[in-house]
Amino acid sequence: MAYRTWREAMSEALYGRGGFYRNPGAPGRHFRTAAHTSPLWSRAWLALAERVYDALPAARRPGFTVVDMGAGGGELVSGLAAAAPRDWRLVGVDVAPRPGGVPDRVEWSAAPPADVVGLVVAVEWLDVVPVDVAERAADGVRVVEVDATGSERLGPPVDAAGTAWLDRWWPLAEVGDRAEIGLTRDGAWRDLVACLRHGIAVAVDYAAVPARDAGGTLTGYRDGRQVRPVPDGSTDITAHVHLASCGGTVMTQREALRRLGVDGRVPPYDGDPGRYAAALNDASVAAELLDPDGLGGFGWLIETRGIALEDCFP
Ligand SMILES: C[S@@+](CC[C@H](N)C(=O)[O-])C[C@H]1O[C@@H](n2cnc3c(N)ncnc32)[C@H](O)[C@@H]1O
Repeated sequence: MAYRTWREAMSEALYGRGGFYRNPGAPGRHFRTAAHTSPLWSRAWLALAERVYDALPAARRPGFTVVDMGAGGGELVSGLAAAAPRDWRLVGVDVAPRPGGVPDRVEWSAAPPADVVGLVVAVEWLDVVPVDVAERAADGVRVVEVDATGSERLGPPVDAAGTAWLDRWWPLAEVGDRAEIGLTRDGAWRDLVACLRHGIAVAVDYAAVPARDAGGTLTGYRDGRQVRPVPDGSTDITAHVHLASCGGTVMTQREALRRLGVDGRVPPYDGDPGRYAAALNDASVAAELLDPDGLGGFGWLIETRGIALEDCFP
């Protein structure tokens, strides 16, 4: 069976003909992201978008746009459609076809628009941008190759660009240590930020921590379970993102959401049972989104253009 780099195998298995992400609604069927928790998630993004809007000079506000890059089942952008001002433009971007049920006011596109003034958000997108995998062998650092069954072998030495990236961001100290080379994610993030003229771009993802992730982080998800990564189109294949190498400001989701006013504390009873039940539900979802050992430990990678970070995260 033919061996290829993980980058080539991932590209075909996820995005080729019949690839995992070519099916509408694949994310919601196979794993759970913050977008699947509750409307609290889209309310937090609406709060951020409003801060961006307020921070822009009035002359720049017409055409204000929110782009959801890698929008998946469209849950976040649909939540925004219910509450965002009517004159804002909302765009879901995905290689998958437009999912059913996405409100009419949402545009759906295979590529992000250019010259965005507003907010560009990418939740769990960078972790599925295909990557090369490297492993330290006795004779140096080599590219890991894989066949369609998921069987691996060591290939040629990592090239100069990959070696420079590993030396700087994820050194492989011992034989058997592995890493995902983040060059493709760095480039994908650069390209996405290039679409932003004024406002903010935010990527939210599992953060790679080289000191912890000595064996690398490549893995698979199928039908709600973590499984061996097999590049045959049946399985999501993902690897954590080295956020610092992408460039920009990095903070944890817990910190970012708190600075946006999300609060996991149980509210005092105010005498209205219905309102109290809703507030309790919000508090429990907020606690899940803020959990430092769960979603709250995700990283937020942030770039601003023409506004200050403190305008959005005071
Ligand atoms: C892990 S899912 C996350 C979906 C959604 N953001 C969520 O939080 O539930 C990643 C999504 O990114 C999409 N995607 C990956 N690369 C893309 C690209 N270059 N252009 C558009 N969409 C892409 C995939 O099709 C998939 O729907």
